[in-house]
Amino acid sequence: MKHMLTLQHVRNEELWELILRADEFAKNKHPLQTPQHFVANLFFEASTRTKCSFEVAERKLGLSIIPFEASTSSVEKGESLYDTVKTLEAIGVDLVVIRHPREQFYAPLMEQTSCALVNAGDGCGDHPTQSLLDLLTIYQEFGGFKDLNIVIAGDIRHSRVARSNVQMLHRLGAKVMLSGPERWRDTMLEQSAPYRSFSQAVREADVVMMLRVQKERHDNQLLETNYLEQHGLSEERAATMKPTAIVMHPAPVNRGIELADALVEAPNSRIFKQMENGVYARMAVIRSILE
Ligand code: NCD
Repeated sequence: MKHMLTLQHVRNEELWELILRADEFAKNKHPLQTPQHFVANLFFEASTRTKCSFEVAERKLGLSIIPFEASTSSVEKGESLYDTVKTLEAIGVDLVVIRHPREQFYAPLMEQTSCALVNAGDGCGDHPTQSLLDLLTIYQEFGGFKDLNIVIAGDIRHSRVARSNVQMLHRLGAKVMLSGPERWRDTMLEQSAPYRSFSQAVREADVVMMLRVQKERHDNQLLETNYLEQHGLSEERAATMKPTAIVMHPAPVNRGIELADALVEAPNSRIFKQMENGVYARMAVIRSILE
């Protein structure tokens, strides 16, 4: 594997290798270190979980992290992403993790640099390492994906998490359903996952995956005052879930908007497990690229 830009081009065999490798990291807390490699994390959009868990994953693998902050870099002087990556390549950085608001920011870079590139989220495009950590979490819970009922709900249109997960879960044999406000429907994704009434989907689901309302990607749209009751996972709605079903959310959670406050840390929530798994999924990706 040279880069990790989207899971779409990753074959099933490789996808399983990544999930199982991440699971091994989850079981064995002290992995062997790799020979010295330099890595830079370039985040041009806000991040807590993804950025910090990439850093933990990199440190656990013994990589040397070159600090980079967009706001104090030459990006402030107008330097392009291309020239930033070429600079890092010239000074010996082996791997560059990038989050950027532009969809497919990596397209002009991937053939032009010897640095390995890892996509940490491209606009409304993809979020492959989030998808891997979600797959790992579901795998740990249910031991597989075949015939699981999974509903992904909320701001589908603007969610790179939904985009990556619908494709992968569908490919692995899960029955994926989508739900959420009409204005955020995505017809492309509906080819692999039917659109359903949320109340009905919640009752059938093994996994209820909620999405954050992506306010930063809307043009001043007003949110319904009763969004939680209409489209979110309220406590009343959660009470209709199967006893074995779990709640997931990539976080940050808008508590009380897409998800009731009390459900974030409820016994059937896997939100913090997802965060923990983020480290292992990212370790698996980095190890697969650098070995
Ligand atoms: C997600 C993202 O940035 O796409 N967050 C994350 O990486 N855990 C989801 C979100 O911000 O809504």
